[in-house]
Amino acid sequence: MAPQEIDLIPFFFIILSFVSCSLQDIPLNKYVEEASQFGSQAYPSYFDMIDDGGNFSKDLIKQSSDVLSLKSFDKVGGTSASVNVNDFGAEGDGETDDTEAFEKAWKVACSSNDEAVLVVPEKIYRLKPIQFSGPCKSEVTVQILGTLKASENLSDFSQDGRHWLVFDTVRNLLVEGGGVINGNGEQWWQNSCKINKSKPCKDAPTALIFQKCKNLRVNNLNIQDAQQIHVSFQKCMKVQASNLSIIAPEKSPNTDGIHVTDTQNILITNSVIATGDDCLSIVNGCGKVQATNITCGPGHGISIGSLGSGHSKAYVSEITVNGAILSGTTNGVRIKTWQGGSGSASNITFENIEMHNVSNPIIIDQNYCDRKPCKEQRSAVQVENVVYKNISGTSASDVAIKFDCSKSFPCKGIVLQGINLQREEGKAAKALCNHVNVNSIGDVSPLCP
Ligand SMILES: *[C@@H]1O[C@H](CO)[C@@H](O)[C@H](O)[C@H]1NC(C)=O
Ligand SMILES: *[C@@H]1O[C@H](CO)[C@@H](O)[C@H](O)[C@H]1NC(C)=O
Ligand SMILES: *[C@@H]1O[C@H](CO)[C@@H](O)[C@H](O)[C@H]1NC(C)=O
Ligand SMILES: *[C@@H]1O[C@H](CO)[C@@H](O)[C@H](O)[C@H]1NC(C)=O
Ligand SMILES: *[C@@H]1O[C@H](CO)[C@@H](O)[C@H](O)[C@H]1NC(C)=O
Ligand SMILES: *[C@@H]1O[C@H](CO)[C@@H](O)[C@H](O)[C@H]1NC(C)=O
Ligand SMILES: *[C@@H]1O[C@H](CO)[C@@H](O)[C@H](O)[C@H]1NC(C)=O
Ligand SMILES: *[C@@H]1O[C@H](CO)[C@@H](O)[C@H](O)[C@H]1NC(C)=O
Repeated sequence: MAPQEIDLIPFFFIILSFVSCSLQDIPLNKYVEEASQFGSQAYPSYFDMIDDGGNFSKDLIKQSSDVLSLKSFDKVGGTSASVNVNDFGAEGDGETDDTEAFEKAWKVACSSNDEAVLVVPEKIYRLKPIQFSGPCKSEVTVQILGTLKASENLSDFSQDGRHWLVFDTVRNLLVEGGGVINGNGEQWWQNSCKINKSKPCKDAPTALIFQKCKNLRVNNLNIQDAQQIHVSFQKCMKVQASNLSIIAPEKSPNTDGIHVTDTQNILITNSVIATGDDCLSIVNGCGKVQATNITCGPGHGISIGSLGSGHSKAYVSEITVNGAILSGTTNGVRIKTWQGGSGSASNITFENIEMHNVSNPIIIDQNYCDRKPCKEQRSAVQVENVVYKNISGTSASDVAIKFDCSKSFPCKGIVLQGINLQREEGKAAKALCNHVNVNSIGDVSPLCP
C-alpha cells in the first residue's frame, strides 16, 4: 500500500522509559512484549518513547544502542510515547499528500499503552479529509508545531464535502502546539451561493471538528481560512478551548469561528476571532457554556442560535459570556430563534462586554427568517432569564438594543444592568422592545420606551 514507508523505515523498535524504576530491573523481553502487539500491523512502525522535551534524535542506531545499554531511561513524570508523523512517511513539503502518513501515525498514537504524543513538526503538511477516531488506549496529545493545510484539490472532498479534520470519540485528548490549521478556503468561498448567486447553495467542509469527545483540551492554535466553520464542538463533554486565534477575511461566507452544538460543560477562553460569520455560535443542545476573554471582529458577533428552524425543538441553558470585546461586528451578543420552533433558551448571562461600532450590540430576534416567505407562526422557542450586565461602548446603528420577541411567547426574565451604549458619533442610541418585559437595574442607556 505504501512502499515508500518500507524503504524509509526498514525496521522498528521500541524504546520505553519508566518512572522511578531502575532499568536494570526490567527484563528485555518486556520490550519485546510491548512491541509485539504492533507486530501484526501491516506497516513497520517507529516508536520513540523518550520524552526528552522535543529533541528527537533521528539516529535510529544510536537510540537502538541506548536500548541495549539501558541508558537515558530514568525520567521524572509519566511515561509517554512520541509518535512523529515524519516517521510514517509524511513529507511536509506543502505539496505531497500526507494524509496516509497521518492516518498511520494516529493509529499508532491511539493504540499506545502509554500516554502518546503525536508530533507534527514545523513543516507544511497537505491533508485531504481525515478522521482521527477513538477510543484510544491512553491519553493522546496532538502537538501541532507546523502547519496543516487543506488540499486545494476540491475533488479530494467529493466523497465528503462537510468535514476536513475530524477527531471522533476520543477521550482525554489535548490538541495544542502553537501551529497553524489552514483550511485553504478561497475556492470554497468563490463557489458559495452567497458570493456567486449563480452557484447552487452547498455546504463546505468544517475545518476542525471534535465530535463525541470527552475531557478535551484545545489550546494555542492558529486556525485560518476555513472552508466554512473553523472549529466545531459537537456532542462533546468537558471541553476547554483556550488561546485560539481564528482568522478569515470579513467577506468569507459562513466561516463561523467556534461553533458549539449538543455539548455540555465547555469553557472557551482567551481567544481572538476575526471572520466572515459568527465569532462564536452556540446552538441546540448546549448547556454549561462559558466564554471569557473573547476578542471578536470583524464578524457577526457572539450568537446563541439560530434555534428552532423547521419547527424543531431546541434547548440551550446556562450560557455565560463574561469578558468580550467586539469591534466592527454586525451583532454584539445575539439570541436568534425561528418562528414555529419550540423549546427554550434560558439562564443566559452576558457581562463585562465592550462594543466598538457594533451594528446590533444587544439583540434578541425571535422572528429570524432568511427564507421567504416568512409567515407568522404560533409557536416559538421560549427565551427566559437573560441577564445583560456591564455592557458599554458604541453602536453603528441607531438601535443599540433590540428585543424583537415572539408575540405568542414573549421574552421573560430579561434584566439590563449597567448598560451604556451610544451611537458611534456620540449621539444617543435607541432601544426597541417588542413583547418583552425588561427589568432595568442601575444606569441603563438606552432604556426601553
Ligand atoms: C539534541 O540531541 C542531540 C543528539 O542527541 C544532542 O547533540 C543535542 O545536544 C540535543 N539538544 C538539546 C537541546 O537537548
Ligand atoms: C485531484 O484529485 C483527483 C482525485 O481525488 C485526481 O484524480 C486529480 O488528478 C487531482 N487533480 C490535481 C490537479 O491534482
Ligand atoms: C498562545 O498561543 C501562541 C501560539 O499560537 C503561543 O505563542 C503563546 O505562547 C500562547 N500563549 C499562552 C498564554 O499560552
Ligand atoms: C459565477 O459562477 C458562474 C457559474 O459557475 C461562473 O460562470 C462565473 O464566472 C462566476 N462568477 C464569478 C464572478 O466568479
Ligand atoms: C485575553 O486573551 C488575550 C488573547 O489570547 C491574551 O493575550 C490576554 O492575556 C488574555 N487576558 C487575560 C486577562 O487572560
Ligand atoms: C435556570 O435557573 C433557575 C434559577 O436559578 C433554575 O431553577 C432552573 O432550573 C434553571 N434552568 C435550567 C434549564 O438550567
Ligand atoms: C465592566 O466591564 C469592563 C470590561 O468591559 C471591565 O473592565 C470593568 O471592570 C467592568 N466593571 C465592573 C464593575 O465589573
Ligand atoms: C462603523 O461601522 C459602519 C458600518 O459597519 C462603517 O460604515 C463605519 O465606517 C464604521 N465606523 C468606524 C469609525 O469604524
